Amino acid sequence: MYKILKKEVLNQAVILMDVEAPYVSARCEAGQFVIVRVDDEGERIPLTIADFDREKNSVTIIFQVVGYSTKLMAGLEAGDSFCDFVGPLGQPAPFELDKWNRVIGIAGGVGAAPLYPQLKKLSEEGVEVSVIIGGRSAEFVILAEKFEQFCKNVYIMTDDGSLGGKGFVTNKLQELIESGEKYDHAIAIGPLIMMKNVVAVTKKYDLHTAVSLNPIMIDGTGMCGGCRVTVGGETKFACVDGPDFDGFLVDFDECMHRQSFFKEEEHECMMRLS
Ligand SMILES: Cc1cc2nc3c(=O)[nH]c(=O)nc-3n(C[C@H](O)[C@H](O)[C@H](O)COP(=O)(O)OP(=O)(O)OC[C@H]3O[C@@H](n4cnc5c(N)ncnc54)[C@H](O)[C@@H]3O)c2cc1C
Ligand code: FES
Repeated sequence: MYKILKKEVLNQAVILMDVEAPYVSARCEAGQFVIVRVDDEGERIPLTIADFDREKNSVTIIFQVVGYSTKLMAGLEAGDSFCDFVGPLGQPAPFELDKWNRVIGIAGGVGAAPLYPQLKKLSEEGVEVSVIIGGRSAEFVILAEKFEQFCKNVYIMTDDGSLGGKGFVTNKLQELIESGEKYDHAIAIGPLIMMKNVVAVTKKYDLHTAVSLNPIMIDGTGMCGGCRVTVGGETKFACVDGPDFDGFLVDFDECMHRQSFFKEEEHECMMRLS
């Protein structure tokens, strides 16, 4: 069993948990993920490792309550345990430290959680990092103070202008590039539509961009094919080949189509809890 050491509600839909998981915390790197189950009948839920503390044997997960299993998880408290906490899974984020001096991260909503360990690691390696964090409104902007600890600039954008600039992260990105800011690399993590739109901007300026894909996963070990994505015309399995890929090569439309396959079943499950 994997004990929850700490629970923090970040906003009405997003929860942070520190979980005791010595095997994972000893081996994980930025960009990898875990698959958790609440109990032995539970669904397997992939979640990015948002942070880890090798001395305390703990791993931080940050999740948005979107459906049946994340709602069950939200009901757990510090002192409760997960039945499974499997990882680290996937590839560490592919950094090119010899080529990157300035990197810009772009996060949409809960995408700030998977972006955080990547920018933190780059900063520890001496890369100058800045971040644009976007949310529907002020309440949905998470981790800004944590990014401030190592980012040169933290830009905030909200759809309604209740915090930072009004508009989308792509508006800020375009503005920064047009004002003459130069970056060697971009990392965008958030909803598929947001990553697709970020890439539409960065492609114009040939600013190479990594994205983190979150297709539906089942086993997380490359066997079921559930997480199939097309990258550069080739089939990849996000769980073992990713989850980070070259954003210029990802077929986003296919990803979005595949992600909506089980909408009806997901809705029915959620109704059972309400
Ligand atoms: C590698 C990876 C890392 C992820 N990291 C995070 C994270 O750090 N924080 C976070 O909030 N979310 C993350 N997700 C998404 C998270 O796994 C889903 O939100 C969760 O599985 C939803 O389950 P549910 O039963 O609550 O919702 P459901 O009602 O079952 O589904 C709601 C939506 O969640 C997605 N989803 C459902 N089941 C799965 C599944 N088995 N695998 C992937 N997506 C699924 C689908 O888009 C679906 O439409 C990640 C997904 C992947 C693949
Ligand atoms: S989740 Fe089964 S192959 Fe990736």
